[in-house]
Amino acid sequence: MFPDKLTRLYIENYSTFIVNNSDVKIRTGIPGFDLIVDGGLKEGKTIVLSGDPGSGKTTFGMQFLHNGALDFEEPGIFVTLNQSPQELISNFREYGWDIEKLVDEEKIMIVDARPFKMYDENYETGDPLYASEPFPFTHLTKMILQGIKKINAKRLVVDSLSVLSIQYGNQFNIRQGIQKMIHDIDEKKCTSIFISENLDSKTPPEWYAASGIVILNHFKKTNTMERSIQVIKMRGTKHSEQTYPIRFNENGYHVLHPRLQTVI
Ligand SMILES: Nc1ncnc2c1ncn2[C@@H]1O[C@H](COP(=O)(O)OP(=O)(O)OP(=O)(O)O)[C@@H](O)[C@H]1O
Ligand SMILES: [Mg+2]
Repeated sequence: MFPDKLTRLYIENYSTFIVNNSDVKIRTGIPGFDLIVDGGLKEGKTIVLSGDPGSGKTTFGMQFLHNGALDFEEPGIFVTLNQSPQELISNFREYGWDIEKLVDEEKIMIVDARPFKMYDENYETGDPLYASEPFPFTHLTKMILQGIKKINAKRLVVDSLSVLSIQYGNQFNIRQGIQKMIHDIDEKKCTSIFISENLDSKTPPEWYAASGIVILNHFKKTNTMERSIQVIKMRGTKHSEQTYPIRFNENGYHVLHPRLQTVI
């Protein structure tokens, strides 16, 4: 499914636009991606981005924020629960993205929320949280809301939510924690990508709570690894259900036409 001429014209010329007289669409600016989700992500909604190790989840997330900051005047927050901010900044220099400059200009904020960096203020042992207490979703939500206020963020990436989910045995706590987080961020009209690792065979609770799901695949084909992308759900959106090949090049991610193998 490809957009008609008028939709394509809008997608190519406006950073945000309105469909169905009510929904504002936020362009990710990732080449080819906006076309398969009817123009972009719905403003203020949260989607889950899930995929194999090395499939490009972090790159997709940072590209969404980098484009927002540079091309659409939309500041963004990257919450990292995996890699250090220094590692992120240095890895993305490979693509020519000067994340450090955007951080200095408050167009991107990197929040280091790795649990071993968090200390429980209620205990005087100085132990990091991971050693004893869980790191509650409410705590992370508070950090995000403070960040949104500080830089007037319109975009958010959490990499990855699974780091918090695996600390709870109780599915109810995870589901409620995620739903409250989504609700609070939604209220601020901040469009969000929650990265999710499919750690076991069960469907992660965030897949149900989020308004959209995008899957990145990374699989072996003869002597090489192939990458692809598929939109599994996108509430209220006429999205494509096809699998599209993707390529990384010197500028990051590109979604390709399935047959022609050129950017769609
Ligand atoms: N400059 C580059 N040009 C092309 N491909 C690159 C470049 N830098 C990294 N890659 C590819 O991107 C992959 C890493 O992407 P990324 O970190 O976004 O994946 P991920 O899904 O977040 O991984 P993880 O599951 O480890 O968090 C690398 O394994 C490499 O194959
Ligand atoms: Mg990653």
